[in-house]
Amino acid sequence: MTRLQQAIKKEKVDQVPIWFMRQAGRYLPEYHKAKEGKDFLQMVKDPELAAEVTLQPIERFDLDAAIIFSDILVILEAMGIRISFATGAPELLDTVEDAETLEKVIADYRKERIPEILDYYRQAIEITRKNLSPDKSLFGFAAAPFTLASYMIEGQTSKTHAKARAWMYSNPQGFARMMDFIADVTIDYLRYQIAAGVDVIQLFDSWGDAMGPEVYRTYIMPHIAKIATAISKEVPVTFFCRGASIQREALLPLYSQGVSVISLDWRISIDAFGDYPVQGNMDPAFLLSDPETVQAEVRSILEKRGHKPGFIFNLGHGIYPEAKIECVEAMVQTVKDFRP
Ligand code: CP3
Repeated sequence: MTRLQQAIKKEKVDQVPIWFMRQAGRYLPEYHKAKEGKDFLQMVKDPELAAEVTLQPIERFDLDAAIIFSDILVILEAMGIRISFATGAPELLDTVEDAETLEKVIADYRKERIPEILDYYRQAIEITRKNLSPDKSLFGFAAAPFTLASYMIEGQTSKTHAKARAWMYSNPQGFARMMDFIADVTIDYLRYQIAAGVDVIQLFDSWGDAMGPEVYRTYIMPHIAKIATAISKEVPVTFFCRGASIQREALLPLYSQGVSVISLDWRISIDAFGDYPVQGNMDPAFLLSDPETVQAEVRSILEKRGHKPGFIFNLGHGIYPEAKIECVEAMVQTVKDFRP
């Protein structure tokens, strides 16, 4: 069992496990070198290159888990929705803005589309697993249903998610049909990743802070629970909610519905979930400061939560491209030096 899996099971660990969101990315000089002349989607679709980039942060920092270099939006291509990262930001060339379009997407979807369209994903997982030491975990991932629904409805990263929320409020049944369809496709997609060799799954609800807890509990949670219940029969599920700070009460029931660990954003105290297993939650902006400031913050998080079982060190959101390598080194070293 890997150290990460031990922590997920609340077993005793010799060190607090550490990995971080977007750990393969633009703050690394070796990432820029690998990327030269290619756009993001080209990299993702080149299995050798995706595996190489996935392993870069493991080689540099000896982290406890790798996360496959891909994106939450690639599953849309298996639903017949075209995507582009040509400008850097994600853009959907097809959107699902009404019930009629949704019905067409549902009618056209076939499970076999996943291996047809996402074969590069399977290959990237296989190559990475072959080159990753057996004491390290490999994360597969997917968006949580609301986050993916927001992209499908809005067509891009929305600041307000107003169209998505308006659909949810005005036509709750139609919205539930969309969420349920997304949950079913996501289960197919995650099983495909598990068959290829990932040993843990993270769901990303990046827009989980766009609504209040009653709405979250009623319209969103049941679909997350459906995915987590199905997938946790095979591998553990961790759940990132950018909004754990707002949704705390609404999220607690997930611990008995397939979610092993909740990943907290940076706007909540790391001990706010008591003895429940958590992951997080250093503000990624600390990594733009200096190594001493980083060390003090890492120690403070570890003192609060690192002595109890069921803790994985992570950031409260993805690392910023401006993060300084010496700050990342200080973060990793401080976690490794700490005795849980
Ligand atoms: O974490 C990892 O290292 C694994 C790979 C990964 C990426 N995106 C790579 C990526 C993962 C797990 C994601 C998830 C993802 N993608 C989320 C959920 C997590 C979160 O950040 O809240 C979201 C919302 C997306 C959608 C997305 N992809 C956006 C909004 C952007 C543009 C903004 C940005 O950061 O550039 C992307 C592009 C993207 N995804 C990059 C990477 C490394 C940047 C690509 C580049 O320009 O080199």
